[in-house]
Amino acid sequence: MPGDLGCYNIADLREGARRRLPKGVWEYLERGVEDETGMARNRHALDALTFVPRVLRRVDAVDTTSPIFGQPSALPMAIAPTGAAGIMWHKGDVHLARAAAQAGVPFTISSASTMDVEDIAAVGGRLWFQLYLREDRQLSYDVVARAHGVGCEALFVTLDLPVQPNREYLHHNGFGMPFGLNRKNMADLMLHPRWLAGVIGRYMLEGGIPAQANLPAHLRHSIARGAKPGALFKQDDLDWEGVAVLRDKWPGKFVLKGILHPDDALRALAMGADGIVVSNHGARSLDGSIASIDALPAIARAVGGKMTILLDSGIRRGSDVVKAKALGADAVMVGRAPLYGLAAAGEAGVTRSIDLLHAETRRVMAMLGLRNMDEITPALLA
Ligand code: GLV
Repeated sequence: MPGDLGCYNIADLREGARRRLPKGVWEYLERGVEDETGMARNRHALDALTFVPRVLRRVDAVDTTSPIFGQPSALPMAIAPTGAAGIMWHKGDVHLARAAAQAGVPFTISSASTMDVEDIAAVGGRLWFQLYLREDRQLSYDVVARAHGVGCEALFVTLDLPVQPNREYLHHNGFGMPFGLNRKNMADLMLHPRWLAGVIGRYMLEGGIPAQANLPAHLRHSIARGAKPGALFKQDDLDWEGVAVLRDKWPGKFVLKGILHPDDALRALAMGADGIVVSNHGARSLDGSIASIDALPAIARAVGGKMTILLDSGIRRGSDVVKAKALGADAVMVGRAPLYGLAAAGEAGVTRSIDLLHAETRRVMAMLGLRNMDEITPALLA
């Protein structure tokens, strides 16, 4: 089949990404934190769930369409925010956004992107905006206003990185920030000429490696320098009152990302959030966190039906999408899966990752005797 890229599952795209990226970039995409027990826990928790299929239910027209915040999505899935997309592929954010728009699923613009929100939003499609707060809060409020101005439907405030995560491999690989060329990373970069020419080479031709975006010109810094005063992402002093300020400023759907405790979900509901993302940040924040899928049932019992529940962390198969729906999520978010596609083959790779997850979801539903998303219930699971 043309366009299959020789990749028949997300793991194939992952392998393509691993081969194309320098080790330091690859490990930034792939790895977790500290002893990295969390990524395996996310997967084990999903794998431990099993289905009890039903038969003879005429599954010749399975419909995967699902409402998210009241609007139909081709699949109960959205692309999660990932700030480093522009390092995986030249202007990677644009390719993610375009593939999502074409597939009819929402795309979440990252506030940590290397591209300005306006340049990504120009692609169109259904857009959400993710926020990390900067030390100078006004800088963040300004970008929130810009995100609204370009038509982003929802604001996602990420809460599960109150402090910097401990990613020791970045230092081992010579990829600590601020970035500087050194013996370790130089050899790594030189050994990946396709990435070097296709990503860094193209940026150099256009005037240089991009800096942190979404900042006024005088505060933009190159990756070789630390953030300028006020521009650093800093949320260790953020609390419910700080988040309420954002709720008041944002006229669209308001979502808190990184919720794992039902009491926090209830608090989100009480403060007027429209949704939450049950997430352990793809096991990239606190290594010992409960798996997102294990946290979901209690949260769904607390707030299900009263607000939109999204789930991420470990989704690699259509069966995972169905499991998350069965346990009470309205939809899932995928971060690494489309990034594997992006790093392996650009926009075609992102499209392939979404198509694979879509086809797998449809196939699993048919195997289970399900014709539409409303038929997914906890009774499907053993
Ligand atoms: C940032 O959100 C990261 O996980 O690297």
